Amino acid sequence: MGESTTGQVSDAAARVYDAVYLPALFQQWCPRVVASAEISAGQEVIDVACGTGALALAASEAVGADGFVAGVDNNTGMLAVAATKSATVEWYHAGAESLPFEQDRFDRALCQFGLMYFKDRVGAIGEMMRVLRPDGRLVLVVWDELAHNPGLAAEEYLWQQVFDEEIDEAPYSLGNKSILEQLLRQAGISDFRIETHTGTARYDSIRSWIHTGAAGWTDDDALDADELELLLDTAERELAHFRTARGHVEFSTSAHIVTA
Ligand SMILES: C[S@@+](CC[C@H](N)C(=O)[O-])C[C@H]1O[C@@H](n2cnc3c(N)ncnc32)[C@H](O)[C@@H]1O
Repeated sequence: MGESTTGQVSDAAARVYDAVYLPALFQQWCPRVVASAEISAGQEVIDVACGTGALALAASEAVGADGFVAGVDNNTGMLAVAATKSATVEWYHAGAESLPFEQDRFDRALCQFGLMYFKDRVGAIGEMMRVLRPDGRLVLVVWDELAHNPGLAAEEYLWQQVFDEEIDEAPYSLGNKSILEQLLRQAGISDFRIETHTGTARYDSIRSWIHTGAAGWTDDDALDADELELLLDTAERELAHFRTARGHVEFSTSAHIVTA
């Protein structure tokens, strides 16, 4: 499942990401990021690795009609979904490592669950700092370590158990706070705060949870029908303890919010 290592998904997967993954896992972090960024009316904000645009939209509401929000992502499938949601936000197809803006342009630079996937993380943080005004604020969100994300870990172990694959550590690769701090310092940031927050993942059922992981993030074509059935059947058995009394799935998640 190499796709999840680079954070890239197919067009079909981008739609599944938006319909299921976003409400289950990611959307809930947007108000926290907007609050941590202290975004106010009239400001100019950039959302780097905007995906299908949830955070950019939340920022757009906060800046109002006099503000400006740019959403940047290097995946056209994600941007195509984002574009259907807002004509006010401007969407840009670009890599985080080379942002198509002049320096000192923005009041706020945001990046929610994207930094872990960048090939050049130091360069990407440098780019966010370059386009930020000197009095601007940077807010980054990354997953905490797998050890503090039991539901996400169980999903990873399931793939390992069924397909004998190595655990995909990429999404959690900045979960260790020392590594995160070292990265920020390498990027020239010394004045920062890291706060760890808890969220709740919610899916309709074990099958929809695991199916979303297979179709909403990794490549749709990666599993054939038999493999998918095997994965889902094993999940029903092995992950039953995440099922609520109503048959839904709920588990806590943990992520770091960096403000600088
Ligand atoms: C987990 S999604 C998060 C999307 C969005 N921020 C959210 O919270 O829903 C990660 C996003 O990072 C994007 N991405 C990965 N590498 C990138 C890069 N080098 N430059 C820009 N975007 C990148 C992917 O295309 C994907 O949309």
